Amino acid sequence: MCGIVGYIGKREAYPIILEGLKRLEYRGYDSAGIALYDGENLKLSKTKGKVADLENKITKEISLNGSVGIGHTRWATHGVPNDVNSHPHYSNSGDLVIIHNGIIENYASIKEELIKRGYSFSSDTDTEVLINLIEDVKKNEKVKLGKAVQIALNQVVGAYAIAVFDKNKPDEIVVAKLGSPLAIGVGDNEFFIASDATPFLEYTKKAIYLEDEEMAIVRLKKGIKIRKIKDDSLVAPYIQELQLNLEQIVKGGYDHFMLKEIHEQPEAIKDTYRGRLNVKEGLIRMAGIDDNLEHILNANRIIVIACGTSWHAGLVAEYIFEDLARIPVEVEYASEFRYRNPIITEKDVVIAISQSGETADTLAAIKLAKSKGAFVFGVCNVVGSSIARETHAGAYTHAGPEIGVASTKAFTTQITVLTLIALKLAKEKGTISKSDFQLHLQELQLIPDKVKKALLQDEHIKTVAKIYKDAKNCLYLGRGFNFPVALEGALKLKEISYIHAEGYPAAEMKHGPIALIDEQMPVFVIATKRGHYEKVVSNVQEIKSRKGKIIGIVTEGDKDVKNLADHVIEVPETLESLTPLLTTIPLQLLSYHIAVMLEKNVDQPRNLAKSVTVE
Ligand code: M6R
Repeated sequence: MCGIVGYIGKREAYPIILEGLKRLEYRGYDSAGIALYDGENLKLSKTKGKVADLENKITKEISLNGSVGIGHTRWATHGVPNDVNSHPHYSNSGDLVIIHNGIIENYASIKEELIKRGYSFSSDTDTEVLINLIEDVKKNEKVKLGKAVQIALNQVVGAYAIAVFDKNKPDEIVVAKLGSPLAIGVGDNEFFIASDATPFLEYTKKAIYLEDEEMAIVRLKKGIKIRKIKDDSLVAPYIQELQLNLEQIVKGGYDHFMLKEIHEQPEAIKDTYRGRLNVKEGLIRMAGIDDNLEHILNANRIIVIACGTSWHAGLVAEYIFEDLARIPVEVEYASEFRYRNPIITEKDVVIAISQSGETADTLAAIKLAKSKGAFVFGVCNVVGSSIARETHAGAYTHAGPEIGVASTKAFTTQITVLTLIALKLAKEKGTISKSDFQLHLQELQLIPDKVKKALLQDEHIKTVAKIYKDAKNCLYLGRGFNFPVALEGALKLKEISYIHAEGYPAAEMKHGPIALIDEQMPVFVIATKRGHYEKVVSNVQEIKSRKGKIIGIVTEGDKDVKNLADHVIEVPETLESLTPLLTTIPLQLLSYHIAVMLEKNVDQPRNLAKSVTVE
């Protein structure tokens, strides 16, 4: 995790870096720091806390002029979040300075060796070890900064996106990447370095995304030279034209990114199926599937790998794929899959789901599946991300940037993509009738308007949130397609309000969790019509007889649950397989309002980061 930003060019670096750090703060917000070079002096200011804390402190510590600089916003891995452990880090001589996103796994042995050679360390970080290793190589081997970085990186084990500056060579910044993302914005004799392209959107739309094991020397007047870290071979820079807009990454009048992103879902879902869903012609077109159709149709099974909310989308997909396309599906936590010696063959198709496309465990699981000969299909939101590049084929969700740490529109758009794939395969396999297929297409097209309608319940949901905001524990229950929605609802509440919440299949309640139910326990039950409605009504009865507080997520016009529940929140009716796209909405809003009422930091919940690039 962590966000890195750098600038070298003709403008003042400070405002670019500061604003860039604000945009990357979703990646970590334990501490922040900036180093600037003004032509004579290398100056540095850093602090525990957020970028806003740095902004308050920096003017008291250093002058802000200089047209070269690097900045960092941190999600702590090695060492507690304090001022000293914050980045950037100087080398012992004070000549070199570094920012780093990732983990150097063998830092302890390198540190020991450097201490023997007279180096001292003020922080507990692996990064301070790396910059001193670079300095040591530079001195002993008498090489330039770029070469020293390359030699040092060939000695380290771990993951990194780094930017290194040497005050004796002020016309260049050296960057390198392995496992963590790094983009270079290319302007007119000015260059921007960042973990993603958002910090430089208003300056240039031209970007180079470094590949793993590549490094670049970004030099004024001479441009960019990219090399392979291992064998020193030159790589031709591939410059991409960015499609992102500035408006997509601001709050646009909403109090929080999360609320904005919840309300963006009707449009985001439409963007996901636009150009793919053709109701008139009864067609679904998806290049990634069309080009690999035989392979996917002949698969023995589909294995879904993902983490967090994306894993929940994978669980929904399991129900949809098995129900519509009759293909066996297994859904795995990427972090478990990669370490448990799974049985994978060439006949398996792996679907990797990830909003960021950078999640370290998912990436490692993909590499493992590929090494065993499986065909790997990615469902990502971030265009050009590591997972999008590592997979054999894929489909983007087109949700637009998701900045709130709690995933919302990523979830519903992932389900939309996966539903399109399931329907397409079902049609090809003949496991769905023509009329049922057409009905699904029609209903899917209506989902954005139905999500809009579900969002209109916001004021009512706020009232419910007020009643339950002080709960210490909550249960979320759902069956079938809506069991994963129960898990997702519980995750949303946990991560932004810090209230303990558990999601369960409704019928599992009687195998244990029912013991928790008393008058203090709010139970959110997804009880939409169709599917197992009567069974869920029975579960609701069981909760009522134990005096639990029942909040039902029901289909418009519902009577049975309404009669039993303390509160109901209605969503429009749709096909059973599509209900997760609607039942999710009130649960997202509920968590949001509770977190706001509890005065929690909704967009940047404690201990979390948006992009989990460490194991
Ligand atoms: O970027 P990814 O979808 O791979 O991220 C996976 C999880 O880290 C992510 O979904 C996380 O659980 C969110 N904070 C949930 O809101």
